[in-house]
Amino acid sequence: MGEEDIHALRGISFSVERGEFLSIMGPSGSGKSTCMNMIGCLDKPTCGDVLINGKKTSQMGDKELARLRNGTIGFVFQQYHLLPTMNVLENVMLPLRYKGLALGERKDKARAALEKVGLSDRIKHRPSELSGGQKQRTAIARALACDPYIILADEPTGALDSSTGRAVMDLFRIINEAGTTVVIVTHDTGIGRSTDRCIHILDGQIASDEALEEYAV
Ligand SMILES: Nc1ncnc2c1ncn2[C@@H]1O[C@H](COP(=O)(O)OP(=O)(O)OP(=O)(O)O)[C@@H](O)[C@H]1O
Ligand SMILES: [Mg+2]
Repeated sequence: MGEEDIHALRGISFSVERGEFLSIMGPSGSGKSTCMNMIGCLDKPTCGDVLINGKKTSQMGDKELARLRNGTIGFVFQQYHLLPTMNVLENVMLPLRYKGLALGERKDKARAALEKVGLSDRIKHRPSELSGGQKQRTAIARALACDPYIILADEPTGALDSSTGRAVMDLFRIINEAGTTVVIVTHDTGIGRSTDRCIHILDGQIASDEALEEYAV
């Protein structure tokens, strides 16, 4: 937008293997969200390409991209993005609607996802009746409901106090250990260091890409 061309990412290239648990760190404005939106095919790069399962997303049509986003990738955001008029169960069921599943099946899958995040006792609550951590766990259940290969989370702990944030990270660790690739954007060094690999972005470029010591409980 605007008059000036901003190169939010420049010459950035990295690959993520299935089953990795990594964080993308960097100062405000460094390009983390832009990078995440490219990986999640919410934005298109002006040049270069994003390959998912070895396939160039630039060559996919809108329908194929929508299917990829809905079936392969689960998104989690800082501000949860829950619908206030729906209860927890309905929020988690929502993305399943686009998969063409019958109502009963949608309910079963949503309940199973809510059980994984430890929220089975809150399914009738509305988002306004939940704590921040519970809202984020609802959003994580919504991302999990479609059985994604990848979870992309942009500042998922940014609105939470540190102990609730750590609990959310523990949940991501469990989800990752069950086989899902998890990519987290964060400002918080402690959160970044609780993943297995940390990519630092500075001015739209990769400043470092390091494997971290084994997660200390
Ligand atoms: N729609 C836009 N139009 C023009 N410039 C943009 C737009 N969105 C982001 N930018 C610019 O692109 C750069 C990268 O922004 P991005 O949102 O990716 O940063 P970030 O690392 O996620 O920052 P934060 O930690 O504050 O969320 C910034 O310089 C920003 O000002
Ligand atoms: Mg951002």
